[in-house]
Amino acid sequence: MLTDFIKEIANTDWNSSFSTEIQTQSITALESGKILLFPQLPFQVLSHENKFLTSTITNFKTKNISFNRSTGLLRGAECKGQDHDDLKKMLQRFADHAENLIRNLFSPYIHALQIGRTSFRPVEISGRVSSYRKDDTRLHVDAFPATPNQGRRILRVFTNINPNGQARLWRVGEPYADVAKRFLPQVPRPWPGKSFLLKSLKLTKTYRTKYDHIMLQIHNRMKADLEYQKAVPQCEIGFVPGNTWIVQTDHVSHAAMSGQYMFEQTFYLPVDAMLNPELSPLRVLEKMMGNVLV
Ligand code: SIN
Ligand code: FE
Repeated sequence: MLTDFIKEIANTDWNSSFSTEIQTQSITALESGKILLFPQLPFQVLSHENKFLTSTITNFKTKNISFNRSTGLLRGAECKGQDHDDLKKMLQRFADHAENLIRNLFSPYIHALQIGRTSFRPVEISGRVSSYRKDDTRLHVDAFPATPNQGRRILRVFTNINPNGQARLWRVGEPYADVAKRFLPQVPRPWPGKSFLLKSLKLTKTYRTKYDHIMLQIHNRMKADLEYQKAVPQCEIGFVPGNTWIVQTDHVSHAAMSGQYMFEQTFYLPVDAMLNPELSPLRVLEKMMGNVLV
């Protein structure tokens, strides 16, 4: 049932404050693997920004345009000069909105929360060609080869801004504990020195911990297993324009099947800042293995 996967929050303002009760309910739902959905929290694209609603705005090497708040750099965009500045301002504005929302809704997290990249996704998902590992139309939990997160939670805010009424269609799969039970036994040990070598060769930005190794293996094995993709209990969710949703994508098994024009803001949260750290992928895996993984 959809309510097993989603908790709705009827809030229509990026800046509003939330009662302690709503905050605790929201965090509890999020940490237990639910998607927090704001059915009516749209991001306003300004009239001079409408020109950015085209897939040709990317440089074709990437599917997303990304903005790094700490360096001020915009990546993946084809445009220059004033357009480049305006596009950057649009991503910056989404980052500000998402940060306000998260600060107000998750105040117990604030002291520890780290802000990551902002992304604008103007390319239609369906029909996109990629290797199976990069194919996000297959159910997966997020883990990235070059950016180990060393156990931190990945928390993402998404908003569908499609101007033609097109939904962003996701599939959502089984709970993380079930994913781990199924795939952990298949994960091989990394060969000795591998993480050190990856870091020395700058193939990873930071050290790939045992946790990162396992998460990446689980991510890849989920995507490689076509029978699993079909047979695992799952639910389809269509996020319509104006929907905003918050997900811990390292925990929630998800696949994006179709849709075009969306914003996403990433945050990272150390496990110890959670209300219930036992629910994190890190602690679940550590318990299963009887071992410290970071
Ligand atoms: C993903 O995180 O796998 C993709 C989500 C999306 O672009 O809708
Ligand atoms: Fe993903």
